[in-house]
Amino acid sequence: MTLFPDIFNSYMSESIMKRAIEKEIIEVHVYNIRDFSTNKHKKVDDYPFGGGAGMLMTPQPIYDTYKHIVETHNIKNPRVVYLTPKGQVYKQDIACDLSLGEDIILLCGHYEGIDQRIIDLIVTDEVSIGDYVLTGGELPALIMIDSIARLIPGVLSQNESFEEESFKDDLLEYPHYTRPREFMGMSVPDVLLSGNHQKIEKWRLDESKKITKLRRPDLYKKSCKK
Ligand code: 6GU
Repeated sequence: MTLFPDIFNSYMSESIMKRAIEKEIIEVHVYNIRDFSTNKHKKVDDYPFGGGAGMLMTPQPIYDTYKHIVETHNIKNPRVVYLTPKGQVYKQDIACDLSLGEDIILLCGHYEGIDQRIIDLIVTDEVSIGDYVLTGGELPALIMIDSIARLIPGVLSQNESFEEESFKDDLLEYPHYTRPREFMGMSVPDVLLSGNHQKIEKWRLDESKKITKLRRPDLYKKSCKK
């Protein structure tokens, strides 16, 4: 549910998201909240009661969009996620949890936010993607879609396999190298050309630990592979 559907339609027509939709592994439906406004000018915002800066999204168009989605897709118990800087901070474990369920409705706010009664009526989860402020919930919603979709079996190919990637076991990724062996006078580490897979695995794990300790001591403490 958004006021800017083109942002989603564009992202969903490229690369891995496009392929996942074509393969019918995931479905993404985009609803323009403005289409459901009963106002003759299709208005979706208004001044806050009590005064203050900015505008709020009014409850009627959001509620009617929600009703429409639930009815057309015959949805039983949807998770309804409102993207807001005051939500719970999004982490890989939330993505994992959401990837196991069926229907997710993402509600993107704009302006100063939405009427609290919408949150009280339909929202099940409030999610933030980090400690910075964006102009709307669209980018956060795309981040959620992408991070959830890639966890669903069949979305990634063997090549794109997520087994070894960052956060899998609370370690950041080791450095990667491809051809050529030498670039701008810089060589690929010898061990990666050695063909000794045991040595390569050890090097990668050591590099992962090194970078995690340096950049993310918080993750390093959680990591079980010390
Ligand atoms: Cl979910 N929305 C907005 N507007 N800003 C944010 C955010 C969400 N997460 C971090 N900053």
